Amino acid sequence: MICRTIVEGTTKISVPVPPPDANFPPSAAPVFYNPEMELNRDINVAATAAFVERLLSRKDIKREEIRYVDAFSASGIRGLRIAGEVGINATMNDWSSEAFELIKENIKINGLEEKAQATRKNANVLLHEQKFHIVDVDPFGTPAPYLDAAATSAQSMLSVTATDTAPLCGAHLNSGIRKYAAVPLNTEYHSEMGLRVLLGACARELAKHEKGMTPLLSHVTRHYVRAYLEIIPGTKQADRTLKSMGFSIHCPKCGFRGPVYGLAVHIERECPACGALTKIAGPLWLGPFKEPEFCNEVISELEAHPLNTKDKARKIITFCRDELDIPMFYDQHVICKELGASATGIESLIEALKASGFEASRTHFSGTSFRTDAPVVEIKKIILALSG
Ligand SMILES: C[S@@+](CC[C@H](N)C(=O)[O-])C[C@H]1O[C@@H](n2cnc3c(N)ncnc32)[C@H](O)[C@@H]1O
Ligand SMILES: [Zn+2]
Repeated sequence: MICRTIVEGTTKISVPVPPPDANFPPSAAPVFYNPEMELNRDINVAATAAFVERLLSRKDIKREEIRYVDAFSASGIRGLRIAGEVGINATMNDWSSEAFELIKENIKINGLEEKAQATRKNANVLLHEQKFHIVDVDPFGTPAPYLDAAATSAQSMLSVTATDTAPLCGAHLNSGIRKYAAVPLNTEYHSEMGLRVLLGACARELAKHEKGMTPLLSHVTRHYVRAYLEIIPGTKQADRTLKSMGFSIHCPKCGFRGPVYGLAVHIERECPACGALTKIAGPLWLGPFKEPEFCNEVISELEAHPLNTKDKARKIITFCRDELDIPMFYDQHVICKELGASATGIESLIEALKASGFEASRTHFSGTSFRTDAPVVEIKKIILALSG
């Protein structure tokens, strides 16, 4: 394996040299390394650092005792960055022997033998055998087969990536239903649908193990979903968490959307706005997917660390922080197309919604989208008035 050394944050990593073929996917290399995920890992450094500060301030725990596991580590980069840049103990695991050897070499390159260790196990076995304060699940595609073990192991935070956006968002419907036991809908807000399907699956897995969760930060960027979930043990917390589960109604005729909370609920089939037959997605997470105070803490950590993607990361987290917690955003372009109206700047639309007495915000999911508590008829009136 011919390797080269790259640097992310302050961590040096030896990774396989990709062939000159531009179409060579990172997954075809002897050990996986995807430079496009640097943003994801930079946010991970800041989010984990912020969470560690919370743990240190709340619990009777010392920094040296906090254990992080990068259960699907490949080159070791994710966990090594946590050991080196956040300063906590990290285990890097991968079942591939080539990855295992490379992780050991990368530990040495960074002089992190005291803080970092490599293991070579099936991630599910490791997570059933050992408990970690922070469990990071960053596999190929779906995390679904590992959520049960991750929910057993994680004591304080579960960080999870899903790159199977087609099943999550409803583009590959049956695959999504099989993996997440939820029916998604492929609408203009499919990215949010995917996030809520994933969070719902995590909430149910954690509940099985009598744990509750509070999403601290979640974002959908390019082709992946990433969530940071605080774990709060106890049956009461698990029951509280499941209260945020439910279904989402969508009217394909008028664009009405609305949440229905609960797991065994009566759902009217007719759209309350226009009477047409609605579609239903779920079960989904309908609660908040971020905590604004945590987002602020992550932004402070971004400033405190040398990170190459700082500006992009700050922008995503700021948008995420400022979004309303009302499920399922609207896309201005979709409504304009239906009305034959022309789109205005998204900020002007938000100002107009607020001026009419509604709540409104932008969303990190897309630049042309917004959230509001305004009924769909009112949104359309305002868009028509703005387009003149
Ligand atoms: C997407 S890559 C991990 C990328 C890495 N987290 C990063 O940020 O660069 C997935 C890795 O998981 C490993 N893997 C897949 N299934 C596994 C399993 N069941 N147990 C342990 N490792 C596994 C693969 O060998 C591969 O190296
Ligand atoms: Zn309708």
